[in-house]
Amino acid sequence: MTAKEVQDIVIDKYQQEHGAENMEKLLKKLRGRPFWVWSNREHRYAMKSLGRPDIPHAPKQCCSTCILGWPKKNGESRPIYKFQRQIYKALFDDVYLNKRSWTSEEFEELRREQIELEEQARKDKHMNVEVTKNNFLKRRQERLTYSFKNKHVWIKKSTGIGATEFLIRIMVWLATRDNQLSGTNMCVVTGARIELAIGIIQRIRKLFEPHGIFFDSKQTTVNINGVNITAYPSDHLDAMRSLTDVSFILSDESDFYSKSEQQNVRDVIERYIGKTDPYICLVSTPNAPGGLFEQIEKEPFETCFLFW
Ligand SMILES: Nc1ncnc2c1ncn2[C@@H]1O[C@H](COP(=O)(O)OP(=O)(O)OP(=O)(O)O)[C@@H](O)[C@H]1O
Ligand SMILES: [Mg+2]
Repeated sequence: MTAKEVQDIVIDKYQQEHGAENMEKLLKKLRGRPFWVWSNREHRYAMKSLGRPDIPHAPKQCCSTCILGWPKKNGESRPIYKFQRQIYKALFDDVYLNKRSWTSEEFEELRREQIELEEQARKDKHMNVEVTKNNFLKRRQERLTYSFKNKHVWIKKSTGIGATEFLIRIMVWLATRDNQLSGTNMCVVTGARIELAIGIIQRIRKLFEPHGIFFDSKQTTVNINGVNITAYPSDHLDAMRSLTDVSFILSDESDFYSKSEQQNVRDVIERYIGKTDPYICLVSTPNAPGGLFEQIEKEPFETCFLFW
């Protein structure tokens, strides 16, 4: 028996005895937590003390990222970066980077509505003019968006900036913050090699290992809190076409798929928009001219289902 086989048996036994209990404990901690606390003093303090053993200050258990453990680069913990907040907002804030201009009818309608509300607020002593105006402006902003772009993001990135890591953590957060997505499928499309698909799932599993949770499942699939996360090589998308409930699609390094795979991926993704309204992230470092990313970049902002 090889050392790896012995290790697998020990892990299997541990998982059988403690895995479910550890998962339950971890899910309890993760429930209701935000992904990251963007302006928390504790976070800033923890960041400053990183790499300084004279200030041992473990990050608080305030958010999913602190509970699971911060991402690491060269063995050192790293926070969630500012530019990643932009991706977060693009996914979860319908208004962010998604502004359309009004039609002349809308302009007239909104102008009238604003005048009426301000008039009403001035007469009614229970209404605050400033608050009424701000609420109206907020509602107006929400209305003047392209709703078909909500939950979709297209990321043209440079290499090694932490895009894959960030997005798999977002998937795990969505799967564990509550039970709403339980029973749904999250799909990760990778390049054509099966090792890439296995690698992504491996990275998701690795997030749980420090918590004493070792998954015993097919190499390209992992189930977290009832959410099935499966990775598909870009040349094997048939199985992905017939899923019933898809809540998230991450297409990673999309610009490196072959021409026909790129079209295929786009078809499959666009079909799910109408079917199950998933979060969609199309990510890649740019590859050759004439590829999927250049094609998307040239599409008018008003009609492309993604935004940039
Ligand atoms: N804030 C962070 N968010 C995500 N990953 C981070 C962060 N800080 C450090 N890392 C680390 O950066 C490394 C590179 O991350 P990742 O592979 O996700 O980047 P990428 O942009 O997808 O790279 P590639 O171009 O190779 O696909 C990983 O080891 C990850 O743990
Ligand atoms: Mg990557």
